[in-house]
Order: sequence, then structure tokens, then C-alpha cells
Amino acid sequence: GDAAGQVLPVESRPFASYGSTLHIALPQAPRAGQLLTLLIDYEAGEGPGVCWLSPEQTAGKQKPYMYTQGQAVLNRSFFPCFDTPSVKFTYSATVKVPEGFTAVMSATSWEKQKDNTFVFKMSQPIPSYLIALVVGDIVSADVGPRSRVWAEPCLIEAAKKEYDGVIEEFLVVGEKLFGPYVWGRYDILFMPPSFPFGGMENPCLTFVTPCLLAGDRSLVDVIIHEISHSWFGNLVTNATWGEFWLNEGFTMYAQRRISTEVYGLPYTCLEAATGRALLRQHMDATGEDHPLNKLRVVIEPGLWGVNPDDTYNETPYEKGYCFVSYLAHLVGNQSKFDAFLQAYVNRFKFQSITADDTLEFFLEYFPELKERGVDSIPGFEFDRWLNTPGWPPYLPDLSPGQQLMRPAEELAELWAADSLNMEAIEAVDIMGWRTYQLVYFLDQVLQKSPLPEGNVKRLSKMYPKISKAQNAELRLRWCQIVLKNNLEAEYSKVKDFLHSQGKQKYTLPLYRAMWGGSEATRALAMETFSATAPQLHVNVQNYIKKILGLGGAE
Ligand code: BES
Ligand code: ZN
Repeated sequence: GDAAGQVLPVESRPFASYGSTLHIALPQAPRAGQLLTLLIDYEAGEGPGVCWLSPEQTAGKQKPYMYTQGQAVLNRSFFPCFDTPSVKFTYSATVKVPEGFTAVMSATSWEKQKDNTFVFKMSQPIPSYLIALVVGDIVSADVGPRSRVWAEPCLIEAAKKEYDGVIEEFLVVGEKLFGPYVWGRYDILFMPPSFPFGGMENPCLTFVTPCLLAGDRSLVDVIIHEISHSWFGNLVTNATWGEFWLNEGFTMYAQRRISTEVYGLPYTCLEAATGRALLRQHMDATGEDHPLNKLRVVIEPGLWGVNPDDTYNETPYEKGYCFVSYLAHLVGNQSKFDAFLQAYVNRFKFQSITADDTLEFFLEYFPELKERGVDSIPGFEFDRWLNTPGWPPYLPDLSPGQQLMRPAEELAELWAADSLNMEAIEAVDIMGWRTYQLVYFLDQVLQKSPLPEGNVKRLSKMYPKISKAQNAELRLRWCQIVLKNNLEAEYSKVKDFLHSQGKQKYTLPLYRAMWGGSEATRALAMETFSATAPQLHVNVQNYIKKILGLGGAE
């Protein structure tokens, strides 16, 4: 305000492996409700929240690039903040960048001023993890009445083609189901290849991996997912990272509701079945009883506590999805449950809440269910859902997807046989299959692998659409199959895929498979890691180091 400033003593104290606390001593204790203005002069350096890329790490390879990734607890290295999702605030920022660069942020308004200075304002309260900034050689193109895509110039045509005219429908269906879209614009920014996530729901401006540029819109479920966070996550937010499933489980449910409205139930069930396969793989790899396989994870500060980033696995997503589906099943009527979701968003918008708030509101909203004591049905207790690790006690019925899943299951059976029935195999025409049908088929093949000697080699030859695919979801599965079947002739595909992108959910499973395989695949892992490490996000680097026993941090 007008009062003269006072220099205050500051001190940094240890907190956890993922940051330290900033202590500011006030001259006297403030009164409750007193407005206090702190001016903090700081410099952001090498922390994990701000990523500085060299020109070689971009698609165009001409100019450097910087981006920030806040979730879960990285923005504390970008700016001093209450870095917890339980605190929400508005923000504004003035960003001056060099000539030839553009700055964009997760903000409701922005304006370019003279001297390459951009002024941003987010007028809705958000948690710290949703503040995001990119500076690079980027341009934009409109794809809808309130949407545009951003990308490096060499990708902008492909970006526009991928999503021109399709975004608005998802927003409209989302609004119909969950209530008003409060963020104004919904823009999409295609990130450099090393971006560690499929998508990140920064408000007004979702960040996505360039792997989504498949040319056929086949990976649009990621966009629907990030749009769904506009209600679940960005409006109603988990108060602690220990209940990350509140963000992701509800978002998976919302994503599949929108998908059902737009693409129908069979396709959506097929997509959900591939999600269930990921949960199965995750639980097999970690052990069902692993403490992170609970919906509610205990996160305590201190050097040996769980790092909130470690909760990024399939459990909050797919077990969370099952729990929300179970709540819908208890209600027994889709439109009543949709109405509940809308009331839930309206009740808790702009707030941060716990699962107890959610479940209490659910029981209040459906008094007959509360009366029936649905929170304590033996085997399905809400408490068990939240606090017991392991496979979900209830799975939603995905049988409407059978018409798409069955042929894929049958074909996988044929390929797993000791002597191949080529006549039967050739009778199946996979040319017309959608990407997720192929993904489902490949997950079945992977589950049955290693296949009898020689089968995978023939499969590879028979289906170049799969073994030479450019689509990242297919490439991931194909690489997993190659490794599990020791198909040495195609190891180079694993290497090429890992050189081409750095998404965590693609990268870690492949390193796990390589490290769990033969001497040759272990060598491949080491070689690939030393060549690609400098390009990867530091979190991803550290997780790989852990897999390879290179003493990576948490
Ligand atoms: N919010 C997540 C990404 C995230 C989670 C970043 C935890 C940092 C820490 C995002 O909404 C997400 O879930 N992305 C998925 C998309 C998929 C489920 C469709 C991804 O990146 O794979
Ligand atoms: Zn998400």
C-alpha cells in the first residue's frame, strides 16, 4: 500500500527433499483480517519447476525454449508460494522476453505491450500448481470459437489440422453435464517432445505432448481428459496430494461421460478397458499391497516422507474411476448421478476439499442411500475404498464394449497358439480397426507374452500398420511386446521411440521392461539413457536412475 516498506529478515529452513521453507519474520504479529503486502525479490535458478531447453530439444531446432511444470510440488522452485493445493489465489504477471519470442501463461487475459512485454491476469482463484508459463518461438491458430492451438511454427499446420472444429463440442457437452465453463478460453499448447506428460490441465491453456499429433485425432481422449479437469481439479480441487484421486478419478469419470455422449458407449467402454489393463499392469508391477495402491495416501513432510510426485500412477486414475463408478452404481440412474456431479461442482467450486467432504455431500444429496447405510456395506465400505490397497472391490460393467473387444481378444488368442492357424488369422481384417482396438489387441498379446517362438516375428511382418506405427500409443505397446519376446531384430525401435519423446508414462515402463530383461536389453537401457538423459525432464531422469540402480533421488 502507501505505507513505506520495511526490510524483513528472511531465512530458509529444511522441509523435504522436494523443497525448503521460506521464513519471513514480521516486526509484529498481524491482527486477524489485516491486509499485509510482502514484496519478495528472488531469482529462479536450476530448480525442477522451470525447464530450460536448448534449440536441439525443440521441434524446430532453431531457438531455445522454456516451460514450467508445477504439478505436483515443483512450482516452489519457480516462485515463492504456499505450494499446497489447499490454498487458492488469483495472480498477475508481467513477463519480458527477448525479441522473437512469445510468452503464454495459464491466465484468463493477456496483452502484449511494447518491448516484448506480456501482461497476464488470472481472475479466478487457483492453486499454485496451476500457474504455468512458456516462452518460445510459438505461434497460434484458431480451432474454435473460444479455442486456439499454440505450437512451434513447424508444427502449427499439423496442430490445427488435428483439432480444428472438434474442441467446442467437448466443451459444450462438458457444460451440459457439469455446469458453466468458468475459464473463458480453452487453448491447447503443443509442447516440445520431452514434455513428461500426455497433458497438463493448466487453466485456459492445456499443455500437451506433441505425440498427440497422430494425424487422425485418435488420441483426443487426452484432450477430453484435460477439459474435464476444468470442473474436477481446477474448480473443485484436492486439498492435499494424498487425495490426488479426487482430481484424477473424478476426471476419468467425467472424461468417459463426455466420451460416451460424443462417441457412444461401446467405444468408451473399449477405452476404459485399456485403462483397466494399465491398472492391472501397474498392480502386478508394484504388488497389490503397495501403500501407493490406496486411494488415500499418507504424505508427511520430512526427508523420508512420500514425495507427492510418487502418487502419479494408475491407482488414483483407474481405481479412482472405479470408486466414482461405484457411487454411480449405488445411485442406479445415470441422469440422477449426472445431476449430483453438477451439484457437487457447484457446491465446492473454487474450493479445495477432502474425500470426506465429497462423500459426506454424496450421502446428504441422496438421503435414501444414507439411510440404507451404503457407506458400510461389507466389502465395499467407503473406508475400505479409501484406505485399503489393492484391486478395486467393484468394477464398472464394460460389456457394451464387447463388440469391439471380442474380435481383438480372439485375434490375440490365435497369435498365442503353439502352431499358428494362419487361415483364421488372415480372415481377420484389422485395417478398419480404430487405434484403441489395436491398443486393446496389443495389450492382450502383451499379457500372453512371451508368445511361442517365432510368432511375434510373423505378427510383425503381417501387420506393418502396428509394427511400423507412428502413433505413440501403438509404438509403446509394440516396444513392450518386442522386449517381452526378446525380438532383438527390433530393439532399435525401442531406442528410436525413447529418443523421439520423453513422456513419463511411455518411458518408465520401457526402462522397467529393459532392466527386467536380458543382458542385451539391460545394455540397451544404459546406452539409451546415457544418450537421452540430458533431454529428459529431471523428474523422469531421476525415476529412470532409480530403475537402473543408478542411485537416483526419490
Ligand atoms: N494432471 C495430470 C498430469 C500430472 C499428474 C502432472 C501428476 C503432474 C503430476 C493430467 O491431467 C493427466 O492426468 N494426464 C494424463 C492424461 C491421460 C490420463 C488421458 C497423462 O499425462 O497421461
Ligand atoms: Zn488428469
